[in-house]
Amino acid sequence: MSPTRRDFLAGASAASFLLTHHSAAQTATGRVTLDAAQTRIQLAPPEFPQTEVWAYNAQVPGHTLRHTRGDILDVQLKNNLSQDTTIHWHGLRLPNPMDGVPGLTQAPVTPGSSFDYRFALRDAGTFWYHPHANSVEQVSRGLAGVLVVDEPKAERPDVDADEVLVLDDWRMASDAVIRDDFGAPHDMSHAGRLGNYITVNARPEMRRAAPAGGRLRLRLVNTATARIFDLRFRGLQVWLAALDAMPLETPTKVTEVALAPAQRADLLVDITAEAGEEALIASVERDGTFALAAFDVTGPARATRPAPAALPPNDMPKVDLNEARQVPLVMAGGAMRGLPDGGMWKGDRMDMRQLAGAGQFWAFNGMVGMPDAPMVEAFKGETIRIPIDNRTAFAHAMHLHGMHFREVLDGGTLGPWRDTLLLGAGQTREIAFVADNPGDWMFHCHMPSHQMSGMMNWIRVS
Ligand code: C2O
Ligand code: CU
Repeated sequence: MSPTRRDFLAGASAASFLLTHHSAAQTATGRVTLDAAQTRIQLAPPEFPQTEVWAYNAQVPGHTLRHTRGDILDVQLKNNLSQDTTIHWHGLRLPNPMDGVPGLTQAPVTPGSSFDYRFALRDAGTFWYHPHANSVEQVSRGLAGVLVVDEPKAERPDVDADEVLVLDDWRMASDAVIRDDFGAPHDMSHAGRLGNYITVNARPEMRRAAPAGGRLRLRLVNTATARIFDLRFRGLQVWLAALDAMPLETPTKVTEVALAPAQRADLLVDITAEAGEEALIASVERDGTFALAAFDVTGPARATRPAPAALPPNDMPKVDLNEARQVPLVMAGGAMRGLPDGGMWKGDRMDMRQLAGAGQFWAFNGMVGMPDAPMVEAFKGETIRIPIDNRTAFAHAMHLHGMHFREVLDGGTLGPWRDTLLLGAGQTREIAFVADNPGDWMFHCHMPSHQMSGMMNWIRVS
């Protein structure tokens, strides 16, 4: 199908529909049930048929769960799919048994059964939730939702609106059916499962009215399985305020934002376009630059605001590089470069041909897939540095569960807190984190096609 996205540079006037100010938010009133099941929704533009998706409570994206820092999250997952599932709470510093990784932190939730997730929300920020079982298929079919944890009321920034933008892509046939080629070797060995239809909150475009001179908080979440969004802005002054839920020490003025799979960015956005104009967020794609979100600017111009203050920080540990132990990670494999020395898979040494035959293409430190022993065994409170050498010809989004990390930059300075790091092809980058959360935590590429074909490992903190 040809995605109906409007050309960014040609300007925007032909929006075919106007979304009203619906609130996907939900207030914290005790337990929520998330029922994972197959359903049908109008995903493609109205001239196309409905699409069969897998969804939580028949909604795509799933219900935005909204809480305040310090609340208890209390969610019952019901599995009405025909296969095992779980929920992973992406980016949360939570107790290990709540992390949702089947075979590592919990038993899989079998069809017809349920599982209770209950834990305290210690950090404010933008998070998301998704299955951690057969993720290529389950996430690609629509199972993903956002969890917003608000700062306590007195600490929230003063904004005219606070919106969640779930950026996603879908691989659809011309009849709006999601293609079921989830195990395609080409996707696994190349850039992952890219879609051909991009959506914001499961619509081809988001459109809102916005006051001239107003300030918005936009919570961007990339739930796509492989697409790296490269975002540009028009008629907006954009301040990057938080990455992967964690506030920056000072909001930074930006003109572009790159968002890898699983990453989030909280933007404070001042409307600089005038009344009657349109402010835009656009995505740079191979075939052009396309508007994803449009703001129809209304009302009398207001005085420009001073630069926004930093969001209140979460309580993070201190990363002391001098005390740190270094554990290197070499990423290898995939098309072009391959695994010349083969790799260890399920206890056997295999060459590239044998691995490809088993649907495996990548290795971390020569290990293909989840090894019996973790790549790091840290004692609680230890600081670990992981220099990551991406010797592949592709970009990867490395995600650590349970703890945030900081990038070690030139001269030993530390970058912002993150839970997912985008590494370009051939890049070497280093992360450091305080292993303060006991348990077994996954460390993997968040492009599930890569994860299932070798790019996963784990870290034990005890
Ligand atoms: Cu969002 Cu291991 O994943
Ligand atoms: Cu990858």
